[in-house]
Amino acid sequence: MAYDTILVTGGAGFIGSNFIRYVLEKTGFSGRLVNLDKLTYAGNPENLEDIGRKYKSRYVFVKGDICDFKLLAGVFEKYKPGAVAHFAAESHVDRSIFGPKDFVETNIHGTFALLETARQAWLQPAAGAGSRQPFRFHHVSTDEVYGSLGKTGKFKESTPYDPRSPYSASKASSDHLARAYHHTYGLPVTVSNCSNNYGPYHFPEKLIPLAILNALEGKPLPVYGDGLQVRDWLYVGDHCAAIWRIMNKGRCGETYNVGGNCEMKNIDVVKGICSALERLAPSAANPALAGKKYRDLITYVKDRPGHDRRYAIDFSKIKRELGWTPSVTFKEGLDRTVAWYLANGGWVKNVKTGAYKNWLKKNYAAK
Ligand code: NAD
Ligand code: TYD
Repeated sequence: MAYDTILVTGGAGFIGSNFIRYVLEKTGFSGRLVNLDKLTYAGNPENLEDIGRKYKSRYVFVKGDICDFKLLAGVFEKYKPGAVAHFAAESHVDRSIFGPKDFVETNIHGTFALLETARQAWLQPAAGAGSRQPFRFHHVSTDEVYGSLGKTGKFKESTPYDPRSPYSASKASSDHLARAYHHTYGLPVTVSNCSNNYGPYHFPEKLIPLAILNALEGKPLPVYGDGLQVRDWLYVGDHCAAIWRIMNKGRCGETYNVGGNCEMKNIDVVKGICSALERLAPSAANPALAGKKYRDLITYVKDRPGHDRRYAIDFSKIKRELGWTPSVTFKEGLDRTVAWYLANGGWVKNVKTGAYKNWLKKNYAAK
């Protein structure tokens, strides 16, 4: 489908900003992207500063909350998006354990507000055409809604939901709402449930960027519990390609699982990061390491409450129907990611000092 305008929610976050970059730079898309983001602690407009300069009116940033019906109505009225790519969420499991409220508000209430506003807009006939415009609402979700696996098996689209953290429970709820809007009202909805992503612009509270940046500063690399939990890692660019394919070729009302075919124990991920760092920024030349190797920083810490043991994705449906498969190996993706953090010291510094929060003042002060 050729969309004139796509509304991306949460586009200042990790995956959303990679998606905006991907669509504008890699797909031949010639329309406009509107990025609606509340700029929580996880929203960093510096992720897209160059994109804003390069694409001018084809990239629009709107600061706002997806829970705000009035604001959403205004955005739909003004920009008339032909599609929504819904990324906005509270996304960190540890934060959901210590403060679930924001997760319920944004992930459940916010998704509801967005679906309902999209439905109202979709019901309006196209100007002069007397019929509805083609429309697509793509809801981005996680494999964590399926719960935790034992030693064998993989999550399929038909696996019953069994969310076990406030984060995954709130995402499960939003998935049900998205599907209900298709089933009940016929809204053209697709859903994707993806495994753990990694890559550039990842906020350093999640395992991979946290370990990279701690290692470079000679700080402990915290491994929860016994470190034998398994995640199925996917390079973020591959996730963006999958979402784009679903938005353009996926069947309405369908769910697609997206995964990396890359099951790794957490301890092996952290050791992999240490090896990549030894190759790209040897510890011997890093004064913060004071003669230690990066591996010496690995520290086992108290486990996360309710820590899911294993995730693995069966992505045969998207492969069969849409021809998507992951293209970046874990070693290559990790090298690219480590290299990106090494080359982007300014971004890292602004995140660490909180200076990225000055972006609004800097860019909108005079308006
Ligand atoms: P992130 O935390 O990096 O970014 C979330 C973005 O949403 C931020 O820019 C934030 O400011 C914005 N946001 C939060 N609340 C908002 C609100 N009320 N209104 C408007 N904007 C708001 O998250 P991410 O890792 O990029 O994840 C994006 C989506 O992908 C989420 O829906 C997440 O559940 C899903 N997902 C993530 C992963 C992963 O490994 N990170 C895997 C599968 C699915
Ligand atoms: P995380 O990146 O938080 O993603 P998620 O919880 O969504 O899977 O964590 C990935 C895995 O790494 C998870 O099993 C928890 C573990 N972990 C650690 O061992 N140490 C850490 O410091 C963090 C943040 C996570």
